Amino acid sequence: MSTSNPQQAHPRSIKSFVLRQGHMTPAQQRAIDENWPRFGLDFQNAPLNLNAAFGRAAPKILEIGFGMGTATAEIAQRLPEKDFLAIDVHGPGVGNLCKLIAEQGITNIRVMRHDAVEVVETMLAEGSLAGIHIFFPDPWHKKRHHKRRLIQPPFVAKLLPKLQSGGYLHLATDWEEYAAQMLEVLGSFPELQNTAETYAPTPAYRPETKFEARGKRLGHGVWDLVFTKR
Ligand SMILES: C[S@@+](CC[C@H](N)C(=O)[O-])C[C@H]1O[C@@H](n2cnc3c(N)ncnc32)[C@H](O)[C@@H]1O
Repeated sequence: MSTSNPQQAHPRSIKSFVLRQGHMTPAQQRAIDENWPRFGLDFQNAPLNLNAAFGRAAPKILEIGFGMGTATAEIAQRLPEKDFLAIDVHGPGVGNLCKLIAEQGITNIRVMRHDAVEVVETMLAEGSLAGIHIFFPDPWHKKRHHKRRLIQPPFVAKLLPKLQSGGYLHLATDWEEYAAQMLEVLGSFPELQNTAETYAPTPAYRPETKFEARGKRLGHGVWDLVFTKR
């Protein structure tokens, strides 16, 4: 009998998401099938040339966890001089964003369906980003699930080298205790500077997201954090 333990050989890393089976509508699937070569990007185990991927040299903004992508599409239209690399693992959301891009003729978004932690680790060059958006990351309310939260020192430490000096990190959440954690985590990095005393006013470019609207219906507050890199 083999003594090797596959669990030990390949320890399962803690993920910030659980893949839901969500239903992909035919229109979402068609949007992916018809447009992926134009604005979809596949995971690769090597650094990505972002200017080549967008076909131009422009400031690059990474968005992690775009959900259904409605805010992403709106922001890209509001900021046509910037390019947006939008990453999520959720199939119907990826389909929906592809549909919005195709319908609205948006040219400054590229979509990835992959774990953004792995994309950050392997595909993004140092200093390649002008900004990072993480809007309403899964709050993982229960204490035993807090280890799944994205905004923790080890991930922020991986993220920050990808940001140019002068670049910004914009987070938002509807969960007060996670907001406090975000403030504490970002505040612990000397290379980051808070643009506000504590929480920031919602920047004009960020519309209400789908998850935010749901939180408000439940009576939750909203906290934005905007830090810049020295
Ligand atoms: C609570 S939802 C918020 C979605 C959207 N930003 C909004 O405000 O409506 C969080 C999203 O992050 C995605 N997500 C979580 N961890 C991720 C990861 N490691 N890589 C990519 N996407 C992730 C989930 O699939 C989900 O769509």
